[in-house]
Amino acid sequence: MVVKIRPIVFKDAASYRLCWDAIAKERRYLTEYEAPPLASVRKAFRKILRNKTPFLVAVDGERVVGFVVVYRWGLPSLSHLVDLGMGLLPEYREIGLGTKLTARVLKMCRGKFDSVHLTVFEKNKRARKLYKNMGFELCGRIKKAVKGLAYGTDDLLAMQKQIRR
Ligand SMILES: CC(C)(COP(=O)(O)OP(=O)(O)OC[C@H]1O[C@@H](n2cnc3c(N)ncnc32)[C@H](O)[C@@H]1OP(=O)(O)O)[C@@H](O)C(=O)NCCC(=O)NCCS
Repeated sequence: MVVKIRPIVFKDAASYRLCWDAIAKERRYLTEYEAPPLASVRKAFRKILRNKTPFLVAVDGERVVGFVVVYRWGLPSLSHLVDLGMGLLPEYREIGLGTKLTARVLKMCRGKFDSVHLTVFEKNKRARKLYKNMGFELCGRIKKAVKGLAYGTDDLLAMQKQIRR
């Protein structure tokens, strides 16, 4: 398995959507139950690429097997903050790719934003370990925030990392 990490490009849209959809359908890690339709993904993509938002994919050949993206809130009052989202297909987990993707995207955020936020399910111990390793600190909890998971409901934890300008 040879996996490369690179910035996403428009032609990745369909493969990225499949990756996102597969992870969402596990019902263990993401708040959405499935990925949006391809047309919506492409529409969002155009904006992300136009705004040069940090967005990386892990690819095995042409296939997107993982991603990390920071979302802008789209409000002037929140323009210094971004929200991080990421995922890898099951067979690409626990081989260090998550660590590499996060380190690369945080580097891209430096000089652009003051703070990166994220939310993670309390039971997602692997992701919490990764974020703690990368310097994210716990800053809040919404109790029983997510329902319909493969294991029932879960609390949503908020984590934050300050970025050097
Ligand atoms: C969460 C995710 C991105 C982590 O990426 P990864 O490539 O699997 O993780 P890494 O191999 O880089 O390991 C990161 C850390 O987690 C630890 N870890 C690995 N598996 C673990 C497990 N089952 N439980 C606890 N910690 C674990 C690793 O040991 C490593 O810590 P270390 O460097 O101190 O030893 C990936 O597993 C994934 O996509 N999971 C499903 C989707 C998801 O959870 N997305 C995030 C939603 S908030």
